[in-house]
Amino acid sequence: MGAKVEVEGVRKVWGTGRPEGEGAVSEALAGVSFTLEPGDFVALLGPSGCGKSTLLNLLGALDRPTSGRVLVDGRDLSLLSDTGRDLYRRRTAATVFQFFNLLPTMTSLENVALPLLLDGIPLAEADARAGAALAEVGLPEKTGSFPWQLSGGQMQRVAVARALVARPSLLLADEPTGNLDSRSGERVLDLVSNLVAARGVTIVLATHSTEAAARASRVLRLRDGRLEE
Ligand SMILES: Nc1ncnc2c1ncn2[C@@H]1O[C@H](COP(=O)(O)OP(=O)(O)OP(=O)(O)O)[C@@H](O)[C@H]1O
Ligand SMILES: [Mg+2]
Repeated sequence: MGAKVEVEGVRKVWGTGRPEGEGAVSEALAGVSFTLEPGDFVALLGPSGCGKSTLLNLLGALDRPTSGRVLVDGRDLSLLSDTGRDLYRRRTAATVFQFFNLLPTMTSLENVALPLLLDGIPLAEADARAGAALAEVGLPEKTGSFPWQLSGGQMQRVAVARALVARPSLLLADEPTGNLDSRSGERVLDLVSNLVAARGVTIVLATHSTEAAARASRVLRLRDGRLEE
């Protein structure tokens, strides 16, 4: 089942290092509000610097808004304890990044099993579930390969398997096809869109690709930290 997401008047302000009064702050998000229903597949579009990654980081509890609230299944992410935030990231919201972020000294299987092991799941069970997740993304024969032995598209499929192995209800993807050729990108997007259909996971996909956006059920456009209608 997918997560419900409510974003209420969210602002994110960064200091620029310049003194007050000389444009000391920059507003990455300037008051953003929207609601996502469980199972929504949302494409987040907009030019470089418009705030897409900033927004994804807030949804993933990697960062906190300067003001406003982000509620996931009714819980305000800013109010989570450190442990609560760790659990949220491990069990509820998973992220797929542009640069895959696999651990280079670990095999595919170990990379995918890691979030489960961190969650206290016994090794045998974690390995079994990681193996099943790798089969689901079409890489059953690559369980023993290290990231440097894989193509970019394969690395990203391992990253998708790692994101989904704990069965999150919210998948956050930040330009997951940005470093892939169009065919590998298609394959990753096929996987992601099939998962929405099969599991009802709520997905927010930041992208510059109009093909990627075409698969989404909804498009949010950001410009200068604001949503355009
Ligand atoms: N840690 C930071 N400190 C200061 N400013 C930041 C920080 N992170 C992002 N910003 C600024 O916030 C704004 C939004 O950045 P963000 O990374 O969210 O854009 P984006 O839409 O993801 O761009 P891209 O498409 O290039 O990835 C930019 O002006 C950026 O310079
Ligand atoms: Mg970005």
